Amino acid sequence: MPSFPSYRPRRMRRTESLRRLVRETQLAPSQLVLPLFVRSGRGIRQAVGSMPGVCQTSVDEMLRDAREAERLGIGGVLLFGIPDVKDAIGSSAWDDQGPVQEAVRALKRDTPHLVVITDVCMCEYTDHGHCGVVRDGDVDNDATLELLAKEALSHARAGADIVAPSDMMDGRVRAIRETLDANGFTNTPILSYAAKFASGCYGPFREAAESTPQSGDRRGYQMDSSNIDEAMREVWLDVEEGADMIMVKPAGPYLDVIHRVKEETGYPVVAYQVSGEYAMIKAAAERGWIDGERVMMESLVGIRRAGADVIITYFAVEVARAIAAAATVAR
Ligand code: PBG
Ligand code: ZN
Repeated sequence: MPSFPSYRPRRMRRTESLRRLVRETQLAPSQLVLPLFVRSGRGIRQAVGSMPGVCQTSVDEMLRDAREAERLGIGGVLLFGIPDVKDAIGSSAWDDQGPVQEAVRALKRDTPHLVVITDVCMCEYTDHGHCGVVRDGDVDNDATLELLAKEALSHARAGADIVAPSDMMDGRVRAIRETLDANGFTNTPILSYAAKFASGCYGPFREAAESTPQSGDRRGYQMDSSNIDEAMREVWLDVEEGADMIMVKPAGPYLDVIHRVKEETGYPVVAYQVSGEYAMIKAAAERGWIDGERVMMESLVGIRRAGADVIITYFAVEVARAIAAAATVAR
């Protein structure tokens, strides 16, 4: 490598047009996925306190947000449902008339350019708030698989483009793949939340999805945040079971995991910038302690640079608008 003074790295940073020319990492709206929280009813738009800008909506209101996302070129949406009734086994999860299923049908009709992904898990649907059936104080892995498969099938039947299991039960990708295939949905991909860590950053989401566990926590099924070798075992298991895309979640504190998953598998890697990551940036920006838009962009570029192909983020609309505005200025 040449050295100073023949090489001066600052030369290429002098102007915005030079910087733009040699920028290594791009962030495009098509790589972003916007999470949406849907419930039954009409005309409902209820703000989530800990996530400024995020709302629970009924399907009609959700469509307005989705149309705007489509107009901005956002790649897709990720649906979470808030059911009218919860019970011990979360049976609303596979109700073909549930909010997620209704939302999928409406989106496929109204916003054909958006990829519609559904979150497959039990915690929004169970009265105890755990991600599966509870037996003797623990989530029963094998009994839960059947329920997840039913839920995924119901989403596929409604027309979901991708199903995304987020429960962290062992063997769920195979169970879902087999059920989808047996019912003619061989072309419905699975995005597996393969490396999902037990994180302090899910708090605001649990307010949005009304899915806080009534007792205990999720450390018995979600991963310990210290472990990357174990994350790779989780990822390889899911790949062997038929996962089409791999998710790492949260994103910011796990950039090393994103990097390694991309390097070692070569699979499409999706990173989930979760609710707490969003809330921290929003809160500091509201206080004037940071420049919210800059930190938003920096956080997302960092996730892309680590190796994520796709980012699920509550900032999707804001980022897409910022990218569009920057393009106008540059012209
Ligand atoms: C449910 C689920 C969670 C998130 C996505 N799916 C939370 C959890 O495990 O409690 C978190 C998303 C976020 O925090 O934005 N299994
Ligand atoms: Zn869950």
